[in-house]
Amino acid sequence: MNNLQKIYILGIESSCDETAAAVVANGRTVFSSVIFSSAELHKIYGGVVPEIASRKHVEVLPYVLDQAITKSDITRDQIAAIAVTKGPGLVGSLLVGVSAAKTLALIWQKPLYGIHHLAGHIASNYLTYPELEPPFLSLIISGAHSHIVLVKSYSKFEIIARTRDDAPGEVFDKIARELNLGYPGGPIIDTLAKQGKNDLFDLPQPRFENSLDFSFSGLKTATLNKLNQIKQKAVLLNQPWQDLINNADFAATFQSAIIKNLLNHTLDAITLTGQNKLVLAGGVAANSELRSQFQKTAEQHKIKLYLPELQYCTDNAAMIAAQGYYAYQEQSPETLALNAYAMLDLENA
Ligand code: KG4
Ligand code: ZN
Repeated sequence: MNNLQKIYILGIESSCDETAAAVVANGRTVFSSVIFSSAELHKIYGGVVPEIASRKHVEVLPYVLDQAITKSDITRDQIAAIAVTKGPGLVGSLLVGVSAAKTLALIWQKPLYGIHHLAGHIASNYLTYPELEPPFLSLIISGAHSHIVLVKSYSKFEIIARTRDDAPGEVFDKIARELNLGYPGGPIIDTLAKQGKNDLFDLPQPRFENSLDFSFSGLKTATLNKLNQIKQKAVLLNQPWQDLINNADFAATFQSAIIKNLLNHTLDAITLTGQNKLVLAGGVAANSELRSQFQKTAEQHKIKLYLPELQYCTDNAAMIAAQGYYAYQEQSPETLALNAYAMLDLENA
C-alpha cells in the first residue's frame, strides 16, 4: 500500500445510549466524530432504559451519519469500508447500528466489518498515539466491563482478568443514584471526590486465589450499607440524611478503593505478562484521580502508560472506525447476514 494513501473508514456505534458516527483515516486520524447521547432521557430512571435508547437511535442515527460525513469533508466514494459495533451491548440498540451499516454497505457497495465494542475502546488510543502498536496490556474499564487484556496484535486478544460481577462504572452509577446525585454517576463522583478525604470508612479489596479477576460487588454493597446506616440514623434523629453525610468524603472514599483495586490487579498483570506498555480504555478511564494515580504508579514502576483522550474514553464511533481499519487490513468482510450480539467473546470475536 502506498504510504500516502488514505483509507477512510466510516464507523458506527450504538451499543448503549450514545448514537455515534465517525470518519477516520488509516485507523489514526479523525476526520469527523459525531456523538448524540440520550443520557438526559434516562436520568429520571437512574440508568439506561433499553427501549428508550433503541428508539432514540432510530430517530437520530440518520442525522448523526449525515453530520459525520458532511463534517469529514470527504465524499461517500472515498469511504473504503463501513465498521459497526456488533456487540456486546443492548441488543435492540446494537441492531439499529448494524441495520444501518448493512443498508449503507449494500447501497454504496462497501465492505462491512462488525467490531467488538471492547476492541473499539482499546483502539481509541490509536487516535491519540500514532506510535502505539501491539503488543501491549490494556485495562478496559467502563459501565459494563472491567477487563485486563493482552493485546497481541491488532486483532488478537487474550483476556488476563475480568470482573466476576459488577463493573466499576456500574458502581459509580449505582452509588451516585443512591446519593440522589444523578446519572451517569462517574463524572459527578469524579468532581465531588476532588474536595473530599478518602478515609471515611474501610472497604474490602477482594482477591481470588490463582486469578487476577476483579470483584466489585462486595465493595459496592459495603458502600451502600454504609449509606443505609446513615439513612437509618437520620430517621432516628428525625433529620434529613443529607445533613449527616459529607458527600465529598463519601465519594472520595469509595472512588479511592476502586482505583486501588484496579491498580493492584493491573500491576500484577504487568508482572505476570512481562508487558510494560499499559493502555487504559473505557468510560471510567476518564476519571481524573484514576488517571493521576496510574500516572504516578507508571513513573515509579517505569511503565509506559497510554491514556485515551477524554473525548474518546466514553462511547464514540471514532474508536470503532479505528479498529475497523485494522479489520479492513487483516480480515474478510462480513456478509449481509451480520447480526448484533448482546454477549460477545473478545478472544473469538
Ligand atoms: O465506555 P462507556 O461510555 O460505556 C460502556 O461501554 O459501558 O462508559 C460509561 C461509564 C459510566 O458508568 C460512567 O459513569 C463512567 O463510564 N464514567 C466515569 C467517568 N466518566 C464516565 N467513571 C468515573 N469517572 C469519570 N470521570
Ligand atoms: Zn463502551
